Amino acid sequence: MAIIRFPGRMPSAHETAEAAGIRQDKPDRNVILPLSVDGVCYAANGNLLIHDLNFRILPRRRTAILGFNGAGKSLTLRLCHGLIRPTAGRIRWEGPKGHDPKAVALAQAMVFQKPVLLRRTVRENLAYVLKSRGIRGADMRARVDRVMVRCQLEHLADRPARCLSGGEQQKLALARAWLLKPSILFLDEPTAALDPAATLDVERIINSLHEATTTIFFSTHDMAQARRLADDVLFIHHGQILEASTADAFFASPQTPEARAFLAGELAP
Ligand SMILES: Nc1ncnc2c1ncn2[C@@H]1O[C@H](COP(=O)(O)OP(=O)(O)OP(=O)(O)O)[C@@H](O)[C@H]1O
Ligand SMILES: [Mg+2]
Repeated sequence: MAIIRFPGRMPSAHETAEAAGIRQDKPDRNVILPLSVDGVCYAANGNLLIHDLNFRILPRRRTAILGFNGAGKSLTLRLCHGLIRPTAGRIRWEGPKGHDPKAVALAQAMVFQKPVLLRRTVRENLAYVLKSRGIRGADMRARVDRVMVRCQLEHLADRPARCLSGGEQQKLALARAWLLKPSILFLDEPTAALDPAATLDVERIINSLHEATTTIFFSTHDMAQARRLADDVLFIHHGQILEASTADAFFASPQTPEARAFLAGELAP
């Protein structure tokens, strides 16, 4: 099966930002990208689940990873974020601080379909993130207030986080990620259980983070969402990347029978 890859020359951060329509007057959050995934395999319990992944994530791009259930989207995101280790191959951060494990850890955040929240109020969940980074006092309170406004959480500030609705919990998870000012945010089906209004709220927050120069790498089963959010698409099938292209090219003319079946809502060939 042919693998369609990004063109060889990597665009500069400026070119990519221009292509993504991002203003250049924001301070650049990126310290670790590009992300280079070279020959990555992952096996568990004797099964080879991820086969020879090769792709790059460029700064300031929004990349969707798409594929049928069980294709390997979540595993790929978890491998890239460092939650699991490749059985073979390398994951390299090629940016200016990409060689520093501490910088690499601090520059990433991940939001899951079901966020893991502390048994505390919304405000305390947010404050905890900043305290863990040594930010306290008036500065901490001001940042928490600001992010609650941005993520429409002010009216929920003193509610127990675990009593929030699914959409509210997801906004809180994104607000926590926002406080970390990540270079890259991984999102594994961030709106899978949300209604259309909550989905759009969450997408607005994701786009605001992106405009603040955060690179986005997300999985979704919502093709309308992928069309709205993605600049680039990786299509994964049985643990292999079959297509890597711009979102426009992928949706206009998928190159493989598997991707065509996927977009047509058919069973995998
Ligand atoms: N620890 C594990 N041990 C064995 N198999 C695993 C393990 N983790 C994942 N898998 C298998 O690897 C495959 C890919 O899983 P993954 O969760 O990445 O799929 P996905 O593309 O995210 O699917 P979905 O769309 O359903 O979320 C699945 O067949 C899954 O059962
Ligand atoms: Mg998954």
